[in-house]
Amino acid sequence: MRSESHSHWLSSHVTLSGISSILLVLCTSYIYFSFFGNNANKIHKIGGFSIVNAWSFFNKRYDFLRSNFDKSGHNLFSFKILRAIVAMSGDDARKMFFHEKGLSFAQGYRLLMGGTPRWKDISEDELIVAAVFNKYLLKIFVTPIVREETLIVVPTLFSDINKRMDAWGVEGKINPFKSIYDLVFQMTVHMASCHELAADLGSIQKMKDLYWTLEKSATPASLLFPWFPSTARRNSQQATKDLYNMVSHHVDIRRKAAALNLDAIDLLIADGADNPTIFRFVLGVIFAGVINTGIISCWILLYLGSDSVWKDKAIVEIRNLITTYTDTASSQPISRRLSTIPMSAWEDEMPVTESIIRETLRIVNNGTLLRRNLSDNVHVGDKAIDKGAFVAYNIGDVHLNEVFYPEPLTFDPSRFDANRQEGKQENPPFLGWGTGRHPCPGMKVAKLEIKIIVALVLSRYEYKLVDASGDPSKELPKPNRNDIHQVHPTL
Ligand code: HEM
Repeated sequence: MRSESHSHWLSSHVTLSGISSILLVLCTSYIYFSFFGNNANKIHKIGGFSIVNAWSFFNKRYDFLRSNFDKSGHNLFSFKILRAIVAMSGDDARKMFFHEKGLSFAQGYRLLMGGTPRWKDISEDELIVAAVFNKYLLKIFVTPIVREETLIVVPTLFSDINKRMDAWGVEGKINPFKSIYDLVFQMTVHMASCHELAADLGSIQKMKDLYWTLEKSATPASLLFPWFPSTARRNSQQATKDLYNMVSHHVDIRRKAAALNLDAIDLLIADGADNPTIFRFVLGVIFAGVINTGIISCWILLYLGSDSVWKDKAIVEIRNLITTYTDTASSQPISRRLSTIPMSAWEDEMPVTESIIRETLRIVNNGTLLRRNLSDNVHVGDKAIDKGAFVAYNIGDVHLNEVFYPEPLTFDPSRFDANRQEGKQENPPFLGWGTGRHPCPGMKVAKLEIKIIVALVLSRYEYKLVDASGDPSKELPKPNRNDIHQVHPTL
């Protein structure tokens, strides 16, 4: 009894002294890196504990980056979350970030591993997978022939989305961050897979739940302890497998179809792709597309809800397209008429909506882009970036910078008008669709989805903004820039 309690005391004592030593080492290195770890040619280190930085990097990313730029007064600073991460701002850094070939896009986003499905959960080499994905993406969404083929999908998209809107009823309240996301999710699944899957609302709901399980499995813990078999990790592996089975089931059905059609799955089958390749394509498009397209569609409706001038301009533009391209004597529902407008008109004859999309992207889409340096010789000015370090660039560095965009928080789509750019040496940088080595190949698809939603909402409904309790909104909410998943509003 005595010896037991003694050994218990001893072990607590040893544990306590062990913890004290670890804390001492951590504090010393914290103080060392905070105060002595910097010199003129080295990148400024902000120090801090990995766990605190990891928490801030995940939960308050925008504030964490901005406040450290402000506090440090440097254009580059580094911190550690097991590995070195260099945050950058300014013209030189931006140009290097987007154009330097030693920086890897795919490896950069591995920093957030857990948020995207681990392809290894369904086997295969990551880089080959990325190359095959990009090849199919270009083939299906970007080549000219597909512009016409996509047109064939448009009427089905309209009818699916219109059906969902019917379920909203003729009047009432909706939360766009739920209802509009549902529309975007269904459209994106349709664009990426096949009509049968997209039209099955039960499957869509299940896919959506599994998708959010994956999306939210990137946590500070998964970043700090990637080897730890956590619940989040297990859930994400299970979600990947369940999604694989769902998609694969539909691919098998399409393989047995009497004739292949022009849906993405059928085009991939015709190209000889196997089920894992098709799965990666479908999921890759969903991951690349849903969040961004959802965020922009929701915020456009919010901005137009608080700006009657631009809302009216958008309504006039859509009415003009309807009268130019559809039968004015038609008694068909508006969704049917909209769906017959040619693709070229959706792409080239909506300058008002284009400016609204661009301005919404500028104010709202200010995420942090990531890369990993795989080269020995990458510099910003006289500062070298270590090989193996991750680099992070927040788009707000230009989009919310009054040097480029005066009154950056004001919604003003006319700031892109050609006459407002006259006399300027060059256009302000715009990064909403990326630039340099990795511009967004999904831009046309995303714009089409956004325009379909905006056209249908503005043609079918009159609406006003209300707050969470249903009272008319007195002021336009602001985007919560720390919310990396949905950029929900905050007042
Ligand atoms: C409003 C919707 C969207 C926005 C705002 C958007 C924005 C962007 C941005 C800013 C980048 C560059 C990222 C970086 O440099 O790190 C990017 C890349 C990419 N986007 Fe999009 N995107 C959207 C929709 C889509 C859709 C629907 C797809 C797929 C159909 C897609 C596929 C991709 C891919 C594959 C890349 C990486 C390209 C590469 O590796 O070179 N995006 N996107």
